[in-house]
Amino acid sequence: MTETAGGTEASGRPERPIAADWLALRRAADTSARDGAAWLLSELTERLAEPVTVFDIGAGTGANQAYLTSRLGVSSRWVLLDHDAELLHTASHGSAERVLGGIGELRGLVAAASGPRLVTCSALLDLLSTDELDELASVLSRLGVPGLFSLTVDGSLILEPRNRLDEAVSAAFNAHQARAGRPGPAAAAYLAQRCAQAGLVVRQAETPWLLGPGAEALIERLLTERADAAVEQHPGLAADAQQWLAERLNSLRDRSLRVQVGHVDLLVKPPQ
Ligand SMILES: C[S@@+](CC[C@H](N)C(=O)[O-])C[C@H]1O[C@@H](n2cnc3c(N)ncnc32)[C@H](O)[C@@H]1O
Repeated sequence: MTETAGGTEASGRPERPIAADWLALRRAADTSARDGAAWLLSELTERLAEPVTVFDIGAGTGANQAYLTSRLGVSSRWVLLDHDAELLHTASHGSAERVLGGIGELRGLVAAASGPRLVTCSALLDLLSTDELDELASVLSRLGVPGLFSLTVDGSLILEPRNRLDEAVSAAFNAHQARAGRPGPAAAAYLAQRCAQAGLVVRQAETPWLLGPGAEALIERLLTERADAAVEQHPGLAADAQQWLAERLNSLRDRSLRVQVGHVDLLVKPPQ
């Protein structure tokens, strides 16, 4: 592993690490959601030459590499970047170079690579700062490299049956996502706008999670963490959030609950 500073604490773990078991729990839902936007991937692969070097930012445990490798249609060499050394060490899918870091390391790595290149990430954009998204758009436009950015949360959550507290909990959760001035749920729209302004071609697909019976463990974790984040953002919401969660988990147990979590996939290409 190449060791770089990349916004990581001395422990090699970020302040708010993502749990590896959460990444495992969401893989099946991510795969189904991405399969629904296969046309977007086709637009990328029809122009992809080999061997392509793929830079996967926020690689986590390697889900994006696992999903894309066989679907790119060309041979690929992978460079996995993450600011969490522990997750990066557990990333397991074929061979890859692992770099401790993130957007700050991207420009140098992409510029130093020869041959066809692709920048990608999954479930990352909504965690990035405005400066990081600006830098990402700049790397793509200055270096003329395509980008595929999957599964960015867009802030929408539809729960059936409806509950009177859905809106308050969602609003507080989205505010938590956008804390410290980050675009949060607006990240994909923000990046798309920056790339279009730079003259790049931007294509977009909706890739929602559609969850119901069979996805109980994922739904329970999703709702519990949403309630926790909403209360962290607005402590006055504690009693309502607790009631909301209890009612939602009851609906989950009687199998009446359906959940749709909005995501967006972006394909960014150099001008034709
Ligand atoms: C939700 S996880 C997604 C992981 C993986 N791409 C997947 O789809 O399973 C987000 C990942 O991005 C990493 N991450 C978050 N912010 C980052 C940043 N600013 N720079 C580098 N990595 C970051 C986290 O450590 C985590 O591994």
